[in-house]
Amino acid sequence: MRVLGIETTCDETSASVVALSASGSGDILSNEVMSQIAEHAAYGGVVPEIAARAHVEVLDRLVGRALQVADVSLKDLDGIAAAAGPGLIGGVIVGLTAGKALALASRKPFVAVNHLEAHALTARMTDGIDFPYLLLLASGGHTQIVSVRGVGDYRRLGTTIDDAIGEAFDKVAKMLGLPYPGGPKVEREALQGDPQRFAFPRPMLRRPGADFSLSGLKTAVRLEAERIAPLRPIDVADICASFQAAVVDVVVDRVRGGLKAFRAEDGHPTALVVAGGVAANGAIRRALSRFAAETGLRVVTPPLDLCTDNGAMIAWTGIERLRLGLTDDMTFAARPRWPLDARAERVHNGKA
Ligand code: KG4
Ligand code: ZN
Repeated sequence: MRVLGIETTCDETSASVVALSASGSGDILSNEVMSQIAEHAAYGGVVPEIAARAHVEVLDRLVGRALQVADVSLKDLDGIAAAAGPGLIGGVIVGLTAGKALALASRKPFVAVNHLEAHALTARMTDGIDFPYLLLLASGGHTQIVSVRGVGDYRRLGTTIDDAIGEAFDKVAKMLGLPYPGGPKVEREALQGDPQRFAFPRPMLRRPGADFSLSGLKTAVRLEAERIAPLRPIDVADICASFQAAVVDVVVDRVRGGLKAFRAEDGHPTALVVAGGVAANGAIRRALSRFAAETGLRVVTPPLDLCTDNGAMIAWTGIERLRLGLTDDMTFAARPRWPLDARAERVHNGKA
């Protein structure tokens, strides 16, 4: 089975062809990714209109290249998958429309993919792991701890009540004058800094459940930075190190809460999977590996280029869904919001 995947929900345009391997994981035949980071850097964040236009400009070339690198043509495919949300609506429409058009023209089945489900299933493509597993999904837009029970079957154990983890890294970077995206810069600065110089708060620590709250930590960082301004290079490094240490403590504590909630209903997870752009952070990875070793859990972190947004995860989700006979038709509309666990979302919004 071979599927083309298209990703345009945020600031990467990507097209990829993935094949189902004999062992049940995925063979990535091509994964063409074009990042728009440079186009958004001057604004300190992603500008939706610029993103949508940039996707339009490169997508068909990228699809052509993905097919060429994979050495397949449209007729060799078993289906076409496109991310249909959640994300920036202009960009989502670009990729979704392109995917539908290709499916229609080539008479192939079409799959509208939930971008979060694609992040959630990536570890099955890379490592062939079985359900159920515990997932920490942490990016610039999302922070969730989820029980992944099966394709389309997710139980959200925790989420952030304010900022996403990547967003907190980006905002701290911005207040310290470090360029966007801030996560990697903060991590680099932290290497030179003293994680104990500032005793920043660890919001939600030891609270029941697995929810996050990061805006208080972000505010504490801002107040401290203002108090000691002007900042010398060593101050920036110490703030980054102390901030990152606080985030690490919070992440491990919340994953611990998530594991407890997981076990209460879903038994023993086959693994702890860490996905999303924040999974690139070495300090967070190391702390979670230590935690997993203590609790006898296997940790799976997909390679970095598959943790951040990419078309391969969309193609793989297409394979997972096609295998179960799940396809979508041409009326499927782009979804700016599309929770993995709709039930948890309703509870969260006070509607249930
Ligand atoms: O998954 P992703 O590529 O895009 C989405 O947000 O969907 O994640 C990007 C986010 C940004 O907020 C970025 O600052 C953060 O991941 N990030 C990091 C690191 N590398 C990327 N955060 C902390 N440490 C890093 N090394
Ligand atoms: Zn993403």
